[in-house]
Order: sequence, then C-alpha cells, then structure tokens
Amino acid sequence: MRHHYTPESIHQLAADHFGVVPAEVKTLAGEVDLNYRITDAEGHRYTLKISAPGADRSAIDFEAAIMQHLAAKELPFQTPTPIGEIVELPEGRLLRLQSWVSGRMLDELNPRTKSLRHEWGRTAGRLSAALSDFSHPATPTVYKWNPASSSDYRHLAKFLSEEERELANFFWDRFERDALPKIKDLRNGINYQDAHEQNLLVDDEGHISGVIDFGDAMYAPTVCELAVTCAYAGMHLPDPLGGMAEVVRGYQEVFPLEEEEISVLFDLIIGRLLLTVATAAENLHREPENAYLQVSAAPAWALLRKLRTVPPELARVLFGGSVSPLKFTKPPHSIVALAGKQLMTMDFSVGSLDLGNNANFEDLGRFTKHVRRILEDNDADFGIGGYGEVRPIYTTDAYAQEGNYGPRWRTTHLGLDVWGPAGTPVYAPFDGVVHSVAIDPNPGTYGPTIILEHEVNGQRFYTLYGHLSEDSLDKFGSSSTTGQVQAGDEIARFGADYENGGWPPHLHFQVMTDMLGYVGDFPGVAFPEEAETWLKVCPDPLAFFNLSPYPFRFANSPIDSRRAKRSALLQKRKNQLGYGLSVSYAHPLHIVRGSKQYLYDTSGRRYLDTVNNVAHVGHEHPAVVEAIQRQAAVLNTNSRYLHENILAFAEELTATMPPGLSVVHFVNSGSEANELALRMCENWSGTRNMLAVEVGYHGNTGRTIDVSDYKFNGKGGQGAPPQTTVLPMPDVFRGLHQGSATPGKDYAAYAARAIVEAEGEGKKYGGFICESIMSCGGQIPLPKGYLKEVYASVRAHGGLCISDEVQVGVGRVGAHWWGFEGQGVVPDIVTIGKPLGNGHPLGAVVCTPEVAANFANGMEYFNTFGGNPVSCAAGRAVLDVVRSEGLMEHAHETGSYLKTLLHQLAEQHPLIGDVRGEGLFLGFELVRSTPAPAAAPHSLHRGGYHSAVKEAKYLKERMRELGFLMSTDGPDENVIKIKPPMCFDRKNADQLVGYLDRVFQEDKMRR
Ligand SMILES: Cc1ncc(COP(=O)(O)O)c(C=O)c1O
Repeated sequence: MRHHYTPESIHQLAADHFGVVPAEVKTLAGEVDLNYRITDAEGHRYTLKISAPGADRSAIDFEAAIMQHLAAKELPFQTPTPIGEIVELPEGRLLRLQSWVSGRMLDELNPRTKSLRHEWGRTAGRLSAALSDFSHPATPTVYKWNPASSSDYRHLAKFLSEEERELANFFWDRFERDALPKIKDLRNGINYQDAHEQNLLVDDEGHISGVIDFGDAMYAPTVCELAVTCAYAGMHLPDPLGGMAEVVRGYQEVFPLEEEEISVLFDLIIGRLLLTVATAAENLHREPENAYLQVSAAPAWALLRKLRTVPPELARVLFGGSVSPLKFTKPPHSIVALAGKQLMTMDFSVGSLDLGNNANFEDLGRFTKHVRRILEDNDADFGIGGYGEVRPIYTTDAYAQEGNYGPRWRTTHLGLDVWGPAGTPVYAPFDGVVHSVAIDPNPGTYGPTIILEHEVNGQRFYTLYGHLSEDSLDKFGSSSTTGQVQAGDEIARFGADYENGGWPPHLHFQVMTDMLGYVGDFPGVAFPEEAETWLKVCPDPLAFFNLSPYPFRFANSPIDSRRAKRSALLQKRKNQLGYGLSVSYAHPLHIVRGSKQYLYDTSGRRYLDTVNNVAHVGHEHPAVVEAIQRQAAVLNTNSRYLHENILAFAEELTATMPPGLSVVHFVNSGSEANELALRMCENWSGTRNMLAVEVGYHGNTGRTIDVSDYKFNGKGGQGAPPQTTVLPMPDVFRGLHQGSATPGKDYAAYAARAIVEAEGEGKKYGGFICESIMSCGGQIPLPKGYLKEVYASVRAHGGLCISDEVQVGVGRVGAHWWGFEGQGVVPDIVTIGKPLGNGHPLGAVVCTPEVAANFANGMEYFNTFGGNPVSCAAGRAVLDVVRSEGLMEHAHETGSYLKTLLHQLAEQHPLIGDVRGEGLFLGFELVRSTPAPAAAPHSLHRGGYHSAVKEAKYLKERMRELGFLMSTDGPDENVIKIKPPMCFDRKNADQLVGYLDRVFQEDKMRR
C-alpha cells in the first residue's frame, strides 16, 4: 500500500533533515518513489523523494553518485544534484533531497521539430560522453528495460494477442539471429538509458534544458543509450526511420558510434520497443485498471508495425553506417553498344527547359513522344543522364507520401538512364549471377527488371536493369537467382512503352554496393533528405558504359550544393537588385518549376500555392504556354498595325462586362492600368484630386502610389499627398462601424461628407478608386451597398469611378467575372492586371465610350508593348480556359467548401476571429479579444481585438515548412490570404485545412 504523507509531515521532514523550510509543497507523479516539489520562502525549489519500503540502499547510493558525477561536468542542460545525506525513515523508506530542475516536459512540446530531434540525439550523446569515465561498485548490470537483454523477456509473449505475438516473434527471432551474437563484443559503459519525453525538460524556446530521473541507469552496451532514445523519438512520426536518423546524427556529433554499434542499433531500438509492449501486456494482465502502465504501448505497437517492412541494412546506412565505396575497374564490356553512336545529355532535372511543361511528362504517352522528339531534334541515337538528378517526374499525388514535414516525394534519381530505341540490346558488363528477375505490371514502375550480382576483385556489387522488354526475361525463367551470365552476354533489350511500365523506351541502369535487404526490386529514386545516403549505396554508373568524354557528371552532394546555390543567389540578389525588393519566408525558396496549383523547389519538393492569383488558370497552363509560344514564333510587334489578336481579345474581354464598358486600352501591368485610369480622371475633371480608401494599394508608379494608403501611410511613406483624401476602410469586422446594421451606408457617408466639404471649399475630386474586395487591406469584402452609395455621390459631384480588379477580377470571385458585379454597380473605368495573362505581363483599362472619347483629346496614346499579338494571345487563352474548364463555377464551389472548412476551423481555434471573402479570394484574421475599447484606425487594438501578428507570421512560416505557401497581409499583417490558382480543388482544401489545424495546435499558436 502506498503511504500518503500529509503536506505537514513533508514540511517537517524537509525542515528536520535538510534545513529547508517549505513555503509550498506539491505532490508529483512517480512510478515507484513518492515525489514532492518543495519551494522555500525565497523561491528556491527542490525535489524531495521518499522511496518505497525496503528500497535497496545501494541503488540509491548509485543514483546519487551518478548525479554527483554529472553535476561536475559542463553540460548544456541541468541535472538534479543530491543535497545532504540520504536519510533512513521507519519502514525502511529512504528520504533524499535533490535540486529542482526547471522546465516543462518535452512531452508537452508541440511541434517536435527536426532540430529538436537533433538536440535529443545530442543530449543522449552528451550523457554517453559524460558517463564514459564514471564507475561505481553498485552499478546495476541486469535490468528489465535494457534493450540488449530484450530476448530474455520473450516469455512475456504469452500475454500478447496472436497478431501481436507473430510480430514480436518476427523481431525477436531476428534479434537473436543477427544482433545477439554481436552484442557481447560491443563497448559497454554506464548508461542513463531513459531519455524519453517525460524525463527531458525544455525551456521556453523548446531547447532541451534538463534531464531528470537517473533510476534506470545501468551498465550496458553504450549504444543502448541511443537505442532507448530512438525508440521514444521515433514514436508518433509518419516517417520514424527518418526521425530516428536525425537523432542518431545528433548523437554521433558529440559521441561517434563504432561501426558494430551502428550495425545493431536498429535491432536494439526494436528490442526496447518489444520490452515496452510486452511489459505493458503483462501489466494489463495483472493490473487491468492501471492506465498509466499502458501509456507507451499503443505508440510502441504502431511504431513496431511500421518498422516491420524496414530492412535493417537500410536502417544501418541511414544511421550513418559505412558503405564501402566501389573500387571501380573498367568493365570488359559496355552495357549498351554506344561506340560510334550519336549521344546527347538528357537533362530531366526539376528546372529543365528540355523537359519543359509538366504536361510533357505527366501523361506517359506524351512523355514518350516528347523524348522521341528531343532525340530527333538533336539528331541523337541515345540520350544519357539522370544520375543524382533531382526530377519532378514523380511528384504527382499518386507518388505522394506523408513525411515528418508534410507531404513528400522521391525526387533524386539513383540510376543512369539511356533513352533510345526499343529493342536495343543490353549486355552484362561483368561476369555475374542473376540475383533476381521480376516484372512489376503496374504503370510507372520498372516493368521487367533484372538484377545481377557480381564479384570483381573480391568486391561484391549489384547491377539493376529496368524497363526491359518482357521477352528479355524469358531466358531466365520466372524464378529468381537462376543462371550465370558472362561479361558481354546479351541479357535483355530495351522494352517498348506498352511493356516497360509505360515509359518512353529506355534502360534504367543502377549500381548497388549493397542490396540493403531488397529482393527483386530496389528504389530508383530517393527522398531529398535521404538522397546523400542512397547515392553512397548507388555510385555513379556512367563508367560502366566505357564512355569518353564523360557526357554527364554529378558533381556535388545534392543537399549541400543546393544550399550553397541558394545562399549565393540570395547574396547576389541583395547586391544587385533593388534594395527594397523583399523575398518571401525566413528561409527563402528557390523555385524552378510551376504547374497547376503547385510550385517546385530545386529539391523537387512540390508546394501547394495558395498565394498566386497571377497564375490564374494554373501555373504554366499548357494552353496559355502554347498560345504564347506559337504566336511568339510568328509575330510580336506593337499595336500600330492591324492585327486580329488585339481586336478579338478586346471583344472577348468586353463581352465579360456590362454593355457600357466597351473600350479597351491594353497595358502591361496593374500599376500601368491604374496610372492610365487616374489620368483619365484628370482629363475628365481637370483635377488630380482623388478619393481613395484606407490600406488600399493600386500600384508602384507615381500617381498610383499617391492613391495607395498602404504605401504612403506604410513603412517609408510620407503620408497622404494633398490631392488624396483617404476614406476609412469599410471593415465590418474591426472597423469604425463594427456592429452596425447598415455598414455600407455608414462607410459610404464618409465619401459624401468629403465631397460636401470639398465643394464648400471650392475643391473638386476627379474620381474615386477602390478594389471590389480589398486585398492588401486584408481580404476585406465591401459591405452591401457601399459602392452604390459612393458611386452615386462621386458621380453627382462629376467624378469618375474606378474599380480596381487587378487582384479579384477574371472570375476569381466565382459568382461573377468581376468583383464590382457583386456590389450591383457599373464603374466608369475598370482596371485589370495580374490574372489576365496568367503570368505574362498584361493589363487592361476598360472604360465607357464617353470616358474614352474624353481621354482622346489629341494627345496620342501609345504603348509599345500593350496589346501586342503575343500578350493578346495569352489573354485570349486565359479567358478561354476560364470558360472551357468552368473555373468560375469551380471557384464558387471550391471557395464555398473551403470557407466552410475555415469556419469549422475557427470554431476549434478562437485565434481565428473572422473568415471572409468570396470564391477563391478568401482570408482569415488572427486576433485575440482584448478588453481595450475600439481604438483608432491603424491601431493594433482596433474593434476590441488585438492583432495576432506573431502568430500569423509563425503560421505562414510553419505552413511553408510543411509544403503550403501562404501569405499574410492587412494593416497588421495578421490576415492570412488565400488566393490560389483557380484549379485549386477540394482535396487541396482538405489538406490545407488539415495542416492548418495541426499548426494551430502548436505551442506558439496557443500562447
Ligand atoms: C489591387 C492592386 N492594384 C494594382 C496593383 C499593381 O499591379 P502591378 O504590380 O501589376 O503593377 C496591385 C499589385 O499588387 C494590386 O494588388
């Protein structure tokens, strides 16, 4: 029976035996000991521990000694230090006092990042290093939780279910066969052996700041320290092996492992997990009510099930185990007879211009044609390339896997491809035996594949031949490991696309120094974070072709070279480009490809783009690309000649607008469109005075900056110029008329008032400029009736009304082509930019014939590039795709769906104060309620809310890490904007909100 001491008795014990007078006593959890946190009057804290009756004094002495030993070391984390002497209480209980270690449990930390896992490993490494010179006569040598003695507990298997027992026995059999014989020769030492989530403490920044509980320390193989650490750090991860590898890397940095240790580490990790599950099952049998004893069992089982399919050899190399480099000797025979043939380098890297648009390879039939065309265009018999190449080819949804940092794809190609005619013979380079012959019937795989095993100069290695013809395999029969081959034997032929996995005819040739436990197959592409390891196992196979000169070379380790390239670009950019140019994200992205709603960086990682409303119909939409390419090949010149494109485009564009808006001026950007519109207002009214809206943005030119409160009242701005009157942002959520039943009227009244005042002073306004949903303002939809009222006032005064549709136009709002339609108004001038050319610089000013006539006052309007045949071809293609792909309906449906999901998210996370927008122009605002009264515009505390600026930034950065590009905006940068390419679909919405939900649960979002 557990004895329960009263706070008074604890008070007494602490004071009597240690001279510490508690001001506060708090009971703590403990498996065996009774533990109390004592705080004295000065705030000093201690842990008071009372053992179970009859506790082993020598064990407690040992624990005290280990803590004393660590206290004398310089460690980057705290450990408890014994204070005073151990006291023997009646009943044989032992009383002791230790210094308190502050911090919260790692268990409570969210998220567990890559750097945390790295630090977790380093912490275990530091403990190994610090304990390497410690010894004690009472050191325990037998202990249940020791991974090295896992199989001594096989008898506990009787408490497991049949399925569980099968799994456990599978691992224990392997443990006894492969690990046990090596364990006896490993170096031993005293290990802490308990670095789990509840024994590690972290500081406010999430760094490991403390290690507690030395009750499990024992003499064991040193590597068991790391095995225990990995067993815990690998839990709850989609990719446990990757997570463990990060821990191992950290450990090795401070305490390098020996080769033999690495070779048993994986089995020791599993050994520890088996102890966890088997003991939990035994406990369940004995104490079915005690939930505490089951805490780790479920995640340990989940982890064991995941690890079943991992070949231990793979784990060994991912943990840093050595891979013997191939001492290459020239093969007696080339694999493909390339002598005298016309060869070319085939570049299929992510940013490859040869590879071109994703449409060239997403459909394998088209890819076959594309490859054939490249070879033909270059008069080449064979194209060679691909070793170590980062490719975008395998980044579709079908290949996506859930990684520890969001979705991930295998992108680094491990073999060398020889692209050439089907039927090309393939020869064995060296003597060897057939290791396996296999056919994977699934499209996109290797199809028919042969793997040979060779032994040359005492060195064993393997060669893989993929995408062969089916009849190539006939001579080997269907079973694996049949037959000898001799160098120069024709072993196979290139398969045609109908038999080789669906690919353009080619040979995938790969060399492996180790099969890592694979049979009949071997990965041909690696995840970016594992690429370096895989490339070590799979050396450059080009030399097998006896080629000179070397047409393709993979020079650097991909990760390092990418990193170096990125920082070089960043540095150059800083020096050479305008100093005011910003770059997105704390870790800027090096993006080299776009397709649909996705962008790709140089590691081949695919990001879901929720930011880019310029790539309106999808990044590099093939129809737009083709329209541009075809027209550019024939004619691109200014609009002083007659040409069909400009007229057809003008006609098609105005057909999307109300009848009065019928005259088009083509320009090259949104800024230029607004600049022109402002000139039209001046011509019309004789004044430059304008009404504009708070936090509005209309462009980067002189006149447009003058109507952009976002700029002139933002950083580096000089305030409103005299000709601009700023009207309050019509924000129903936090604005001046929060809670009003008639916000449209209320906000419009400011325009009317400004006009009355101006007229009183004999001043005039040339017009009013406003977006139909405010973008930089933070995705602010205009309240009902707002534009109607303002337009009426402005027109009565004689001014013109400009609707800036640069962000929201061309069907993005779903229900209409143009945002102003939702307000039931017809502007005098509509300005269009971003989406109109799908990335091609194209803008337009559409106005009434009256405005156009007034503007044509004799001064010629000439625009060198505006309306050129290529731009117009791009614009026509965009309008056509919006129609033919039903993108407006799609934006309406998908946007409504996403908005519903966001509203549900807001119910879970009160930090989301408002969800708003229309179609695929949405946003949500992060705020905390504050008792402060509604304050002035531009205040962080507007409308009784505090803008959650840090959280918005954190969310944006975290989402980027997880593979989702998002942006922030609004006066305080606390609004997350969502305005993706219009092909963004429901699945994207589900995934996006799923990940948002995950990040909203992280510590920094819950301060
Ligand atoms: C509403 C609005 N108008 C005009 C512009 C200026 O367009 P551009 O950058 O194409 O000159 C922008 C650009 O962000 C904008 O958001």
